[in-house]
Amino acid sequence: MNLKHLNYFAVFFLLISWACSSNSKKQVIAEQDKASIEQYRPQYHFTPDSAWMNDPNGMVYYEGEYHLFYQYYPDSTVWGPMHWGHAISTDLVHWEHMPIALYPDSLGYIFSGSAVVDWKNTSGFGTAENPPLIAIFTYHNPEIAEAGGVDVESQGIAYSLDKGRSWTKYDTNPVIPNDGNRDFRDPNVIWNEEIQKWNLVLSAHDHVQIYSSDNLKQWSYESSFGADAGAHGGVWECPDLFPLQVEGTDDTKWVLIVNINPGGPNGGSGTQYFIGDFDGHQFTADSKETSWIDYGRDNYAGVTWSDVPKEDGRRIFLGWMSNWDYAQVVPTEKWRSAMTLPRVLSLAKVNDNYVVKSTPVKEMDLITDRKLPVQNEALEISGERELDLHGINLNQSRLSLEFETSENAPESFGLVFENELGENVKFSYSSVDKQFYFDRNHSGDMGFSDKFAGIDKASYEAYSQIKLEIFVDAASMEIFVDDGELVMTEIFFSTKPFTKLTVFSNGSPLTLTKSEFVDVNSIW
Ligand code: FRU
Repeated sequence: MNLKHLNYFAVFFLLISWACSSNSKKQVIAEQDKASIEQYRPQYHFTPDSAWMNDPNGMVYYEGEYHLFYQYYPDSTVWGPMHWGHAISTDLVHWEHMPIALYPDSLGYIFSGSAVVDWKNTSGFGTAENPPLIAIFTYHNPEIAEAGGVDVESQGIAYSLDKGRSWTKYDTNPVIPNDGNRDFRDPNVIWNEEIQKWNLVLSAHDHVQIYSSDNLKQWSYESSFGADAGAHGGVWECPDLFPLQVEGTDDTKWVLIVNINPGGPNGGSGTQYFIGDFDGHQFTADSKETSWIDYGRDNYAGVTWSDVPKEDGRRIFLGWMSNWDYAQVVPTEKWRSAMTLPRVLSLAKVNDNYVVKSTPVKEMDLITDRKLPVQNEALEISGERELDLHGINLNQSRLSLEFETSENAPESFGLVFENELGENVKFSYSSVDKQFYFDRNHSGDMGFSDKFAGIDKASYEAYSQIKLEIFVDAASMEIFVDDGELVMTEIFFSTKPFTKLTVFSNGSPLTLTKSEFVDVNSIW
């Protein structure tokens, strides 16, 4: 090495050390930014790294991987030209962000839809040894929409031969052209063993339509359901149709999920369902009455995973943890929206009615620090009582509580989560009205929308023992009552973390027989 080389070496060394120090400065600044910007970022729910997200899409399990696609607009934190974002998990809890799977094209934006494994290669896109994954989605054509046309939406497909890493759109899309309904979207496909065909259900404004196919490319219209059933306070969107075994029996019933916006149980977006029978051609509901998957205001567009192995047997549901009433203006800056926790759906008969119950997937135990569950002694509650949190972080926690009421149930009782500024959310039950209430009227930042504040209600006939499983994650709370017989999912924007939990009982006392608190680890 001569002198000239040494000089080059010194300059190179100086440049490297300058770059390193400026990089570490940048990193410190990035960390600071993260702390301030990401105040409301959930730590154990799926969120996009940046930009806008709405509905979960194309949820399919294949070769050890749960795929989650989602409505995504990478260029802004508000809704825009829709892509399918993509993430993969091997355990439903930890997610790896993947490159965007589907981009808009000349036929339109890529709206919501589903994905299946075409095991028998009925589409011919793959081989029997390497079956294709098929995504079935809606094309939404913005030019036709702008011009006031009707045939704005049609259904298209795409396939992947490399475990969902890359996608090829079918060259003769659409596979289902518009039928004259301006709202004509969100196809959801299942393989129907009984008729040995594919069935597809989609939303057409105020009803769902059912189709069948041998090959996922040619579809025949079968029937419609719903124009005269269920809730009609808004447009029907994102349906899902699947069989569930009735708990404790050998009977199977079909569940039809239909999202609706507005017209949800507490305003804005909501997820209704019907129970009935399906023969591959026609869905017949046992009742035209609507039931709701979740009574909170922040669980929308939820549908279930396809192709979960038979040995596992679960029907796993995931929703978008927001509401179109205010989703685009919530006070997060780098990204908007999170998904709910994945939930197992089961069907039970309660007081002669079928109820779809939701419980968080058991994989949540992987991030729940059960080494040190904090267990309070049984407590008699009369008036108010602050609970000892034993140092757990209430803002990122999982709480299991059990209440027992005497014959004289208290008029009302519940829980208040509060921060040092007095901002709070309150969850309570009234034995007089037979309703649960979630009150976010004092929850902190609410100024972004006049539709956000409020007290949400859910009718419920409580037993003398009430079980609550509550997940708190930064700016969200999911409350599962009595093993998921009733669920409320709510978001809120308290400007400081919750540090205080109070139980109250008005009227007769009640006993808190169990209160077990654990920290939940971050998944990122
Ligand atoms: C539901 C929805 C769907 C549509 C998508 C567009 O939230 O309106 O009906 O496909 O969002 O992003």
